[in-house]
Amino acid sequence: MVPKQFTPSADLLDGRHILITGAGSGLGRALAVECARAGATVILSGRNSRKLDLVYDEIAAVGKQQPAIAVLDLATATAVDYDNLAKTIGEEFGKLDGVVHAAALLGDRTPLEQYDVPTWCKVLHVNLTAPFILTQILLPNLRKSADASVVFVSSGVVHNQRPFWGAYAVSKSGLESVRSMLSQELEGEPNIRVNSVDPGRMRTAMRAAAYPAEDPNTVPAPAVVSGTFLYLLSVQSRGIYGQYIEAQ
Ligand SMILES: NC(=O)c1ccc[n+]([C@@H]2O[C@H](COP(=O)([O-])OP(=O)(O)OC[C@H]3O[C@@H](n4cnc5c(N)ncnc54)[C@H](OP(=O)(O)O)[C@@H]3O)[C@@H](O)[C@H]2O)c1
Repeated sequence: MVPKQFTPSADLLDGRHILITGAGSGLGRALAVECARAGATVILSGRNSRKLDLVYDEIAAVGKQQPAIAVLDLATATAVDYDNLAKTIGEEFGKLDGVVHAAALLGDRTPLEQYDVPTWCKVLHVNLTAPFILTQILLPNLRKSADASVVFVSSGVVHNQRPFWGAYAVSKSGLESVRSMLSQELEGEPNIRVNSVDPGRMRTAMRAAAYPAEDPNTVPAPAVVSGTFLYLLSVQSRGIYGQYIEAQ
């Protein structure tokens, strides 16, 4: 059972190395700061180095460990980029204890009949194919951890299929297949667990784009759900694998 309200202790993630995609803004940024507060060495991944630098500075002020920055545009990254990331993590840290796949694109909110095909391909690539590739390439580093946790970021659209959510809904549904398959394929390796979290509605740029008429002040900040993620990234959640978890 994953607690919805979880208050991390200051040493919850001591000694753990955690990579977070989409760390420059929104949920990824909030998780990066909270993981650092809880003692983790955070590898901040994102496509915008200026945003990552700001998060780096924020963490340098509150975290115990200096973070690292890994600029990776998931829309354009090549095999060499992924290989270099995995190699650098291996050389710098020796092991990886957690990955949170927070990066995603909303894409268009239009009927399928009018959905722009290049946008469809980009959303599926960034939201589904890239987390698959990243997980695949990072498995050797995750295997070096005594307790590694992979967390895919899901969405309520997976269980509530609605019109106009286009490639975003399809990508998140596909991610659930990846989560389910991978957790079963790794069943013989109890030191790697794979779960997904639906964070629920959060006050971010993506939410504002999806619901332009909504008053953002009525929507909780991403930090509200960080407890669930930190719990899953910590050794306290050992034994929890293959689950779809609602954070709110
Ligand atoms: N907000 C919600 O209500 C809600 C609800 C359910 C699920 N989610 C999920 O929560 C996760 C975080 O979303 P959010 O709400 O925090 O939205 P967000 O603020 O838009 O954050 C998305 C992140 O993904 C990054 N990203 C986009 N394209 C990328 C690319 N090509 N390469 C690398 N990074 C890229 C963005 O980078 P830039 O900063 O450079 O744009 C940003 O950091 C997503 O997986 C989303 O599907 C959100």
